[in-house]
Amino acid sequence: MNSQNPVAPAKTGDLVLERIESNPKVQAQAPRLMFRKSNRTNTLTGVAVTSIGAYVPDRIVTNAELENRYGFEPGWVEKRTGIKERRYAADDEGTSDLAVKAARRAIAAAGVDPAEIDLVLVGTFTPDYTCPSTACLVQNKLGLDAAAVDLQAACSGFMYALATGAQFIATGNSKRALVIGADINSRIVEPSDQGTAPLFGDAAGAVLLEAGSSNQGLLCYQLGADGAGGSMLDRPVGGTARPLTADLITSGQHYLKMDGRNVFKWAIQVVTETIQLILDRAGVGVDDVKLFVLHQANIRIIDHAMSVLGIPAHKVFNNLERVGNTSAASIPVALEEANRQGKLESGDLVLMCGFGAGLTWGTGLFRW
Ligand code: UT7
Repeated sequence: MNSQNPVAPAKTGDLVLERIESNPKVQAQAPRLMFRKSNRTNTLTGVAVTSIGAYVPDRIVTNAELENRYGFEPGWVEKRTGIKERRYAADDEGTSDLAVKAARRAIAAAGVDPAEIDLVLVGTFTPDYTCPSTACLVQNKLGLDAAAVDLQAACSGFMYALATGAQFIATGNSKRALVIGADINSRIVEPSDQGTAPLFGDAAGAVLLEAGSSNQGLLCYQLGADGAGGSMLDRPVGGTARPLTADLITSGQHYLKMDGRNVFKWAIQVVTETIQLILDRAGVGVDDVKLFVLHQANIRIIDHAMSVLGIPAHKVFNNLERVGNTSAASIPVALEEANRQGKLESGDLVLMCGFGAGLTWGTGLFRW
């Protein structure tokens, strides 16, 4: 087992997920950390999601495979996260390849002429290259006449890209915008780090935005950042501040580093607060919302939000047990699956919430 394992399992072999709210020890501790909050919210209507596409790689990596290969504590990953398996991209796939596959599916579902797409936004923190952007690779592979740019907000990347694309649509400066969340996390995690590697998987999701009716779009949204917490989830070397050296690579400093326990404490706080704020500002209750789609990081974070906010299970869509945490792809991949199951209809209210490195978060109440 990796020496960086942040904690030994409470009861080895017990696969039943502990619900946080039923743990008096944990209740007595909360909340212990102070994080930046925001009361800023905005509204952006006249925007519609006209189609969704998703792509998950073929290769399934089970917990058992990782436990056998790296000596992870049997049952730890499922018990502490709810994740049973994840997908890994093929060796010859880059993030743009996943993004293009998801985008093609979204374009086909909408039945639009690709020539009409004039904007490509890609939320990713695992780009094919530092430069050029993944969005430019996607634009080229799809043969589009479109502006193209990446947004780096890690697991909030799709929500930042969605809100950005919506601005272009609402102003009429874009007729059809392709908003993509795509990440290949398997390439940046330290494979033997039990506290990080088994949580993450690879995927891409894409939505097509177009002008909608005046009551469609982001009835209320919040994009937040707390850079003071940046070191809680980062890749400390490889950028301009600390360029790569052979020694840094040898010591594994180029991998994603996560202080999972403190990220967890931040997440349960920010997720409940931002969702409550959005609902209050929009003047809607939990009952009015058809579906809640939260970033698929850890079932215990989602369970905690459901418990505090009083959200019934049938209103929450989760797929993390099969795909793990796919960072910027997490929300659009879940949306696509929910849509395929007939859970999203025109006029429905959908609450989406992304959170992750930066620290960043993005929450939106979207009238479909
Ligand atoms: O995608 C980007 C965002 N990434 C994440 O959201 C990942 C967040 N982290 C995790 O998913 C988990 O921390 C790991 C799976 C990485 C590790 O799990 P663990 O080692 O079983 O720790 P934990 O998550 O159960 O607990 C983390 C901390 C603990 O505090 P201490 O003992 O380290 O001081 C818990 O007591 O969170 C504490 N905690 C709470 N604190 C306040 C748990 N529930 C609560 C609560 N209020 N309701």
